[in-house]
Amino acid sequence: MIIESLKLHDFRNYEELTLAPHPGINILFGQNGSGKTNLLEAVHYCALGRSHRTSVDREVVRKGAMMSACGVQVRKSGMKVDVAVKLMPGEGRKKQVFLNRKRSDRLSDMMGKLQCVIFSPEDLMLVKEGPSVRRRFIDMMLSQLSTGYFVALQQYHKALEQRNAILKEIKRGTHCDAAMLDAFEEAMAKPCETIITLRKKIVEQVAVVAAEKYKAISGRENEQFSMRYLCCLQSMENIVEQVKEQLRKNRQEDVFRGATHFGIHREDMALTLSGREMKLFASQGQIRTAALSMKLAQLEVFRQQTGESPVLLLDDVMSELDMTRRTRLLNEIADVQTFITCTDESDLEGCRERRSYQVSMDEKGSAQIREISGGEKVHQRSEIIEDPDFT
Ligand SMILES: Nc1ncnc2c1ncn2[C@@H]1O[C@H](COP(=O)(O)OP(=O)(O)OP(=O)(O)O)[C@@H](O)[C@H]1O
Ligand SMILES: [Mg+2]
Repeated sequence: MIIESLKLHDFRNYEELTLAPHPGINILFGQNGSGKTNLLEAVHYCALGRSHRTSVDREVVRKGAMMSACGVQVRKSGMKVDVAVKLMPGEGRKKQVFLNRKRSDRLSDMMGKLQCVIFSPEDLMLVKEGPSVRRRFIDMMLSQLSTGYFVALQQYHKALEQRNAILKEIKRGTHCDAAMLDAFEEAMAKPCETIITLRKKIVEQVAVVAAEKYKAISGRENEQFSMRYLCCLQSMENIVEQVKEQLRKNRQEDVFRGATHFGIHREDMALTLSGREMKLFASQGQIRTAALSMKLAQLEVFRQQTGESPVLLLDDVMSELDMTRRTRLLNEIADVQTFITCTDESDLEGCRERRSYQVSMDEKGSAQIREISGGEKVHQRSEIIEDPDFT
């Protein structure tokens, strides 16, 4: 799939931007703090309705502005689709999603319209940090592949919040209605069938590809990288019943702690290298290779499942990679529309069909983008750009 046009309005330090990117590699270079990552973040918003670096929508609204909008026109399998997100963080005003310029009621409607894989230096946290980073990796991937998964996850988290609220009330002695707990536990258990089944399947698929990528990048046959889903259940049978049963069993302890300590919100993935836990034993270079392998595997699995290449966002990763890894990465993305940020354009010398953009800040602090080298001219009509309702 290809982004044919991208438009931002009061997004981070962009006042107004309209861009018709190259179908190959787009290089965004410029000084620190100029607005390179902000642009990738906007693409991420158009794919997932959220940022890759903050969960607070308000942060992306340009300082002094009331609302923010970003939109893309995507071409895939010969079809075109417009996706736009408007953020109005005032009281109770949620984000709005527009598909082909029509307001859509649900965030889930936009999932999968644009698919992206983002790779940034923070990906090393996939190996080094706690389970939430790895869960996020799985959730972001599955949400883009399955609307059913995204909806199930939303339902689960809503019910979890409600159960936690009741647990706290019971602890304070202001509530003691067990029937409410029954209802919320039922609501938590139901979506687990979809969530657990899909998590297991995707981790198995990604693990096979990631192990191959790891070998190819490291060049070491004897280093076996492995990913394993750590499910909250012992078996995959009667998932809903098992979850309900476990939640009921834990009630007393959960009331004491004031939170739910069992469930898919506590799951993890085990990452090992030749049988040893990576977090404890792996070197910096091995961690880097593992993170890169996982992201390349994600790209490959998207391709396998949809027959389309997702858009790739590479934030500041080139300077972090040695020549072997860089070449390997560039080979992998030969047919993928890619946005690469770097501070020095020379990091990417010799890379194929591309267009370079210089990102800078004007005297008012707004980001400006200037095309430096054109690459192949792309003929297109960007309807979204002419959309009068966009802002
Ligand atoms: N809501 C906002 N309104 C206005 N400006 C913002 C907002 N949020 C962030 N900025 C500005 O955006 C800039 C940071 O942009 P960005 O993270 O894209 O930089 P970058 O070019 O990727 O830099 P680096 O090379 O250091 O990664 C900073 O100057 C920051 O002040
Ligand atoms: Mg940046």
